[in-house]
Amino acid sequence: MPDFSIFSLAGKTALVTGGNSGIGLGIARGFVKAGARVLISGRNEEKSAAALAALRAIGGANAAQWLATDLADTDSIPAFFSAAAAALGGVDILVNSAGITYRSRADQMPLAEYERVLRVNLTAPYVLSQCFARARIAAGLPGSIILIASLMSEASRPTTSAYTASKGGIRQLVRALAVDWAPFDIRVNGIGPGFIRTPMNQVLMDNPEFDAWVKRRTPLSRWGLPEDFEGVAVFLASDAARFVTGQIVYVDGGWLATF
Ligand SMILES: NC(=O)c1ccc[n+]([C@@H]2O[C@H](COP(=O)([O-])OP(=O)(O)OC[C@H]3O[C@@H](n4cnc5c(N)ncnc54)[C@H](OP(=O)(O)O)[C@@H]3O)[C@@H](O)[C@H]2O)c1
Repeated sequence: MPDFSIFSLAGKTALVTGGNSGIGLGIARGFVKAGARVLISGRNEEKSAAALAALRAIGGANAAQWLATDLADTDSIPAFFSAAAAALGGVDILVNSAGITYRSRADQMPLAEYERVLRVNLTAPYVLSQCFARARIAAGLPGSIILIASLMSEASRPTTSAYTASKGGIRQLVRALAVDWAPFDIRVNGIGPGFIRTPMNQVLMDNPEFDAWVKRRTPLSRWGLPEDFEGVAVFLASDAARFVTGQIVYVDGGWLATF
């Protein structure tokens, strides 16, 4: 039998923002399957209860917890992180999956919406990563951070200026944090999803033309699914990726490999 123990997350704890939905929930599911205990966060209680039930059905009652937070309120993030760390008994792995978009042509974009997208998608992951790194450095412990990038980290589409700016920022933040915290064995990597079937894309999935375009344009001929993120997140969080930092792994069905 091959030895897959290098991928195990047994005994590890993970905080997954946006873990009650879509890609974050897919990642949380992968972590629980790999043996970790997770704390998922979001604002919506109903979605979070359903996600908790799904995660506990896989890993048992102790496998998952939920803590409410609104990441748009960046001042509240340090207290949120302390509460999450107390609930888990320390955080070994941080995944920043929570994210939003606001579609508007750039000349019509309300500045408040632009700033909100930047705050939730870029500033909140920064502040949360700071909290995580401070705790790991103070304790003399290694760690793994995963940020969620996008095809919009590399290119743009009409009406996505706020989102594109935030995800372009994530691409460089992965590198900057990886470099700053490598001396402390805190690895920082990104996952770049292609077009994925999640609530964020409901409008696009419901548009038959867009749906057909995504399938035509993607070499693997389909939308991605939240479960497509389980393995790659486990890899990046585990010892199997112990010499991998500052990278973005695109999970895009080959999108960026062609045009
Ligand atoms: N789907 C795609 O095709 C795609 C492609 C590239 C990148 N991404 C990125 O992948 C990540 C996850 O997106 P998804 O597609 O999985 O979308 P999703 O299913 O809509 O999930 C978004 C998550 O973010 C949380 N969230 C939103 N605003 C928040 C706030 N102010 N405070 C706390 N949590 C908040 C939501 O929880 P509550 O509603 O409970 O707050 C939810 O858990 C995002 O960073 C997104 O930009 C997605």
